[in-house]
This record gives sequence, structure tokens and C-alpha cells, in this order.
Amino acid sequence: MAKIAVLGHGVVGSGTVEVLLKSKQSLEKKAGQELEVKYILDLRDFPDSPYKDKFVKNFDVILNDPEVKVVVEVIGGINPSYEYVKSSLLAGKSVVTSNKELVAVKGAELLKIAHENNVNFFFEASVGGGIPIIRPLHQCLSADKIIGIAGILNGTTNYILTKMIRDNMAFGDALAIAQKLGYAERDPSADIEGADACRKICILASLAFGKHVYPESVHTEGITKVTAEDVEYCENFGGSIKLIGWAQRQDNGKIAIMVCPAFIREESQLAGVNDVFNAILVCGDTTGDVVFYGKGAGKLPTASAVVADVVIAAKLNSSSNTLYWEDSENQDFVEKKENIVCGHYIRLSGVTKAQAEQVFGSVKYLVRANAPEGEIAFTTEPISEKECADKLEQLGGELMGNIRILDY
Ligand code: HSE
Repeated sequence: MAKIAVLGHGVVGSGTVEVLLKSKQSLEKKAGQELEVKYILDLRDFPDSPYKDKFVKNFDVILNDPEVKVVVEVIGGINPSYEYVKSSLLAGKSVVTSNKELVAVKGAELLKIAHENNVNFFFEASVGGGIPIIRPLHQCLSADKIIGIAGILNGTTNYILTKMIRDNMAFGDALAIAQKLGYAERDPSADIEGADACRKICILASLAFGKHVYPESVHTEGITKVTAEDVEYCENFGGSIKLIGWAQRQDNGKIAIMVCPAFIREESQLAGVNDVFNAILVCGDTTGDVVFYGKGAGKLPTASAVVADVVIAAKLNSSSNTLYWEDSENQDFVEKKENIVCGHYIRLSGVTKAQAEQVFGSVKYLVRANAPEGEIAFTTEPISEKECADKLEQLGGELMGNIRILDY
């Protein structure tokens, strides 16, 4: 019998308990033993909950109970989650979490503590919601050297972009629906400013490349500056605008990594990924491209990934040794932003096409209906971030849009 404690009874926590109880029989068959939710930790009261006898407010009750084998952390954020997770691992309990911030910031340390204590720290639900990606990456793709990863990693922003582009919905209205559906973070600026996608690409890159990539090392832009005009020009380009978290092994051995809105060509497998769906494209040196697709946020998809980890954690009596990466205070293996190379879409006014060509060389112009006189939009050949910034400064005019073009 494995006893489980669930820390947090919000969207994911309540979904986790629901799935654990609803599918109890089949889960127990898979786990090879009985699974019992013994505690639910939350500071709030849930007097009408069918599980009201399981609620506790003091984490020490869980920590000091030797019967608890698996602790599920679905509170989110660093405090108090970090202390709860660390002390659980030190006490010999395995931990399952959906907390991407915790894994992105403290992953290497917590994995090390888990190994030292012969228990497991699992976080399948931290990236891609219900999409299996962590286990495929470190187990199924272990024969591959990972060359690159690019993903639509945030359900909220993908939902907003889809509603804005397809249904002409205002940004704020689309965000309000995403919040109501339980997709958005408590502070939705983490979604729309790209921090959530940044944490997720950090987790994937750390796992794929073996060294902890910290969120501060990743240039991150969200979707707040994407305009309806950019969307029109992107249609003329022949693609879609998506918020992409990407990491790419470079010839110099460094990792180029970034989160940014990007023009994605229609032919790309990422272009047709809409609404709350996420997709993660992984390129391995042996297998080539593989794409993982599914619901990237929401109560039950995320709970599905949490519960699958719980089943494995309950079953194992020792530490899994493929899920691991090294800590690295030195982030020199991450390419500096100024050296990262890609094509750019640029929209500006106050300069002529001749001036643009003089500075940028060969460009491709884009058009849209009813563009005001004096507005030009074009795409560049791949150039470094520094080169692009220098050329824009040299060109002058009023810059109204600058979105990267990614060829995934
Ligand atoms: N706020 C996140 C998203 C939740 O929208 O993708 C899932 O991690």
C-alpha cells in the first residue's frame, strides 16, 4: 500500500485527487498495490468537499508520517513549495510536482537530493500539461543526442493568440476566458510575458543537454507586443505567429535558447497547433524530428500527468537514474543573446524601401490591405541579434514590429 499526500487543492490538486479516486482500481493494478490519498494540505477550508476528512493545514503532519511514501506538490511557486519538497525528499519520500518554477529554479539541487536519498523527484506535468515529454525525452530518446527543441509551451498564450487571430477577439477577453478555464497562472503576467514558457524550455533544455539552464540566462519575450498588423503580415508571409520556447545546439558547442513570438511557416508542424494545445518538436541526431502534441494546461490533462508519475513513484523502491542533470553556476555554455542568429520580420515607417535595402541588403517585402502610406514590412535573411539591432539603429524611422522567423 502506498499512501499519498497532496499539497495544494487548487485546479491541479483537486484534479489529481479526483483522478486518483475515480480511477483507483485501474491505477492500483498498474501500481501493483493499493493507493490511498491520506492527506490533502491546504490552508483554506473545504467543508463541503467529499474528502473533507483528509484535509490538514500543517505540513509537519505529512512530513512526520512514515506511512506517506509519495508527496504530490501542486501548490506552485517557490515558497513554501521548495522547503516542503526538499524536506520530503530528505525524509525519504518521493515527490511528484507540476511546479515548473520550482523545477526550473531548483531542479538540479532537488534531483541530487532525491538521488542521495534513493527516492524520486518526478515532474512530468511541469511541461506540456497532459503531454508526455519528460519521460520520452530521458528514456525513449536516450539513444539520441538532442540537437534542438522548439515548442508551443504555454496554453494560455496559445489560446489568446488563436482567439485573436481566428475569432478577432480582444486580448483581454481571450485572457479572461483562459483564466476562467483554469489555464492561466495565478499571476497571468507569467503567461503573457513569457516567464512560464521560459521555465518550461529551461527544464527541457536542462534535461536534453545535461546542464541546468537557469531562467535568467534565457532572453524572454511574451506576446503583449504582437499586433493585429503583425498578424496580417504573417498571413501574407504564409504562416502563423506562435509563442515559441526553443533551444538549439550550435556548431560552437553552445546552446542558443530563447522564448519569443515567432513567424512559423504554414508547413511547420507547429503552425496548426491552436487553442490550449501545446506541441513540442524534438530533433535528435538519430531519430530526426519527433513532435509531442496535446492539451498543455487545464485541470484534468495536468492531473493525468501528475497521477501517472504517482503510479511510477509508488511502484519504485529506488531512485531512477536517467532523470538527471548537473547543476551549473557557470552558464557560459548558453550562447549570448547578441550572437543568436535568425531571420526577422520588420515593420516600420518613415524610411523608404531603397533605404531599407541599403542597410539590410536583400529583403522580401510583405503586404497587407489598407496599410497606411509610408509603412513598410519585410523579412530579412538570418542575421545575429546584434547585427539586426545595429542595422535598425542605422536605418532609423519608427519601428513598429520586429518578430523573429523560426524554421521548425
Ligand atoms: N499557465 C500554464 C499554461 C499552465 O497556460 O500553459 C500549464 O503549465
